[in-house]
Amino acid sequence: MNNKVQIVEVGPRDGFQNLKEYIPVEQKLKVIEDLIASGVKHIQHTSFVSPKAIPQLKDSKEITEILLKKYPDFDFFALVPNLYGAKAAYELGLRKVSYVVSLSVSHNKANINRTHEESLAELQNIMETYKDLHVCVDVATTFGCPFEGKFSTETVLEFIHKLAAMGVKEVNLCDTIGVANPRQVREIVAAVKKEFPEMELQVHIHDTRNMGIANTLAAIEAGITKVQSTLGGLGGCPFAPGASGNTATEDLAYMLNDMGYETGIDVNKLIEAAKYEKTIIDGNFSGHLMNIQKNQCNG
Ligand code: COA
Ligand code: ZN
Repeated sequence: MNNKVQIVEVGPRDGFQNLKEYIPVEQKLKVIEDLIASGVKHIQHTSFVSPKAIPQLKDSKEITEILLKKYPDFDFFALVPNLYGAKAAYELGLRKVSYVVSLSVSHNKANINRTHEESLAELQNIMETYKDLHVCVDVATTFGCPFEGKFSTETVLEFIHKLAAMGVKEVNLCDTIGVANPRQVREIVAAVKKEFPEMELQVHIHDTRNMGIANTLAAIEAGITKVQSTLGGLGGCPFAPGASGNTATEDLAYMLNDMGYETGIDVNKLIEAAKYEKTIIDGNFSGHLMNIQKNQCNG
């Protein structure tokens, strides 16, 4: 058993992007700094997308500048949908981005307003323009789409073949609307690992149907060592009807620590961070540990 699991926190992007009421920069920073203080080592801190599409993250430049200055060696990365976003991220000093494209043609259109061909051409352009930028491709709707339903494992593999042929080194398999089940996760992860042994892999799991933790564990037991989650379980794509929160980071860290995996995370600090977040954000928190009374909880 590989004992180390990297928990990749994406709450400051996925958790915040869906919230209508604007969260001031200072409060966003406090959440991010609480995550760092709890031992989280990888954070997707924002996205460089159109402020018309996602008004909440219109402060991406300011947040990035502050964080990179204060924590120059920390593993921050941002989501980008196009060259415009990649340029903004790169010029601020980021050297790692997630580039989002949906396996589903219709979700790609709803989310990014591009065809697959256009999205892949844009990806090529980003990789050629910024050769030292690490680009992880987020394959949204890998496990199912609100418009097109589920895809076969072959369809997933075919799409990843296109990415691999372009030189993509890391892929994030995303359950954008939380419709995966553990058997499906095991099957797809095993098939992808077999077909692309060199490809770095992550999973991005939503907890919409209360299967977030089971699906994340299925991915880990199928050999994935980098898993995404969000503080308090906030999350959801505004362009995917029915999407809601992600697997909660503190619940996931608790389970993994208790199972003997090394996450480097202090769960109690993370629970406090989630509780603080709930005081400043009127969101749909799906985390469990944050709701346990102190005398019920040993963790
Ligand atoms: N960041 C900020 N502004 C951007 C941008 C980016 N990455 N990309 C484009 N824009 C601006 C353009 O400058 C243009 O501005 P203008 O109206 O003032 O001239 C406007 O957005 C439209 O540009 P265009 O290239 O025609 O984009 P579009 O309307 O086809 O929208 C996206 C495409 C990708 C920019 C938009 O759909 C988007 O940002 N989607 C992100 C969705 C998302 O974050 N989903 C959740 C995460 S998976
Ligand atoms: Zn998501």
